[in-house]
Amino acid sequence: MAVTDRIAPARKPRSSVDLATTKPGTPGGIFMRQFWHAICRSVDLPKGRALPVRVMNEDYTLFRGESGRAQLVAQRCPHRGALMHLGWVENDDIRCVYHGWKYDCSGQCIEAPAEKEGFAKNVSIATFPTGEAFGLIYGFFGPDEPPAFPPYPEADGEGIIEAWAPSDVPCNYLQSFENSMDEVHVAFTHAPGGSHAKLSVDLPIISAEETPWGLMRYGNRATGLTRHTLHYAPNIVRTIVPPQAGMDGVGGWPTITFHFTPVDDENHKWFVSAKVAVTGADIEPYWTKRREFFAKLAAAPDIQGLVEDIWAGKVPYADVRHPVLARVQDIAVQAGQGRIENHATETLGRSDAGIALWRRILQRELETIAAGGTPKKWQRAPDDVLPTVGA
Ligand code: FES
Ligand SMILES: [Fe+2]
Repeated sequence: MAVTDRIAPARKPRSSVDLATTKPGTPGGIFMRQFWHAICRSVDLPKGRALPVRVMNEDYTLFRGESGRAQLVAQRCPHRGALMHLGWVENDDIRCVYHGWKYDCSGQCIEAPAEKEGFAKNVSIATFPTGEAFGLIYGFFGPDEPPAFPPYPEADGEGIIEAWAPSDVPCNYLQSFENSMDEVHVAFTHAPGGSHAKLSVDLPIISAEETPWGLMRYGNRATGLTRHTLHYAPNIVRTIVPPQAGMDGVGGWPTITFHFTPVDDENHKWFVSAKVAVTGADIEPYWTKRREFFAKLAAAPDIQGLVEDIWAGKVPYADVRHPVLARVQDIAVQAGQGRIENHATETLGRSDAGIALWRRILQRELETIAAGGTPKKWQRAPDDVLPTVGA
C-alpha cells in the first residue's frame, strides 16, 4: 500500500526554498553537493565488480579495479549510451560492453577497437572523487574541490569497525536526518520490543546549537544526565546506541555513524558504520554472535514487505518482531509520514528543537545559494567532540 501524501492547506509556505530536494541545479542540490556522501559498503564492491549507483537524483557507475581503489564514472558510455556497469573491469580501467571502448582511471578513453588510430584520445568519460573509510565508500559530486576526507573523525578508543547492511528507505532523506534529532520518539516508536528501554525511562528536554561542522544536540534527562549527539552537516548522525539486537549486550553500547544518503527526492539509503568496543580475545566470540545474528536476519521477512503490511493494517505495529526491529519501526514511522513530509501541516513543539534549528540553518543556506551569495564554509568536526550516552 502506498502512503498517501497529505494535502497542504492554502497558506503561505514557511520557506521560499525547497528544503527536501537534492536535484542538480536546485539550491538544495547545490548545498548537498558540497559534501562527501556514503554510497556503498566496502564489502559490497569486490575487486573486478562494477555497480550502478543513484545519488541525489543522478546515476553513476562505481567499480573497483585491481589496485583496490574504488572509482566512480558516469552511468553511460559517451559512445552510444550503454550502461557502464555491464562492462568489464580490466586492471584499473573499465571497458564498455557495447563496442569495447575502454577508459582509464582519469576517464580518458584509451581504446576504441573499431575506430581509427588516434580516435580514442578525443573521448573521455566523466569521473568523480571517491574515498573509503569506516567500511564505507564515499563519493563527491560537486563542482568544487572536495572537503577533507574522511568527512568526520573515527570514533575514539579501541575496537572494531563494522558497516551494517544498508537499508532502502522510501522517503526523503531529510525525514530520517530529522528523526535522528528526535530523541523523544525513542520512548514511543521503540517501546514495542523494548530495545531502547534504557533510553525511555524519562523524556529528555531537547536543545541544540549550530557548530562549525553541523549541529550539536543535547537530551537533558531528569536523572541529571545529558546525552550528546553529533549531527554532521548535511546528513550524518554520530551517536551512542543501545547494544545491537541479538547480541545480548556483547560489545556494549556501540558508537554509530548513520548516513542518510539521498537516492532521489522520494528515496534514500541508510549506511551505518559502527565502532564496537571489543578487543583481543573478545573479537572472535563477537563475530560468532554476529554470524548467528546474520543467519537470523537472512531468514527473517523482508523489511520493506513487512513495512507495507504494517501500513496496510495487516500486521499490528505493536506486535511486530524482527531481528532488526528498531529499523523496521523507524522505517514504518518515518517513511509513513509520506514520501516527502509536508512541513506546512506540522505542529512543532519544544521537543522538536533540533529539527527546527536544522531547518532554519538549511533555509538560510539554501536561500543564500538561491540569491547567489556565499554559503557557510563547513568544517570537519574536531576529534575531541564526542557523543555521550546520557542514560
Ligand atoms: S556504447 Fe560504449 S562502446 Fe559503444
Ligand atoms: Fe528510531
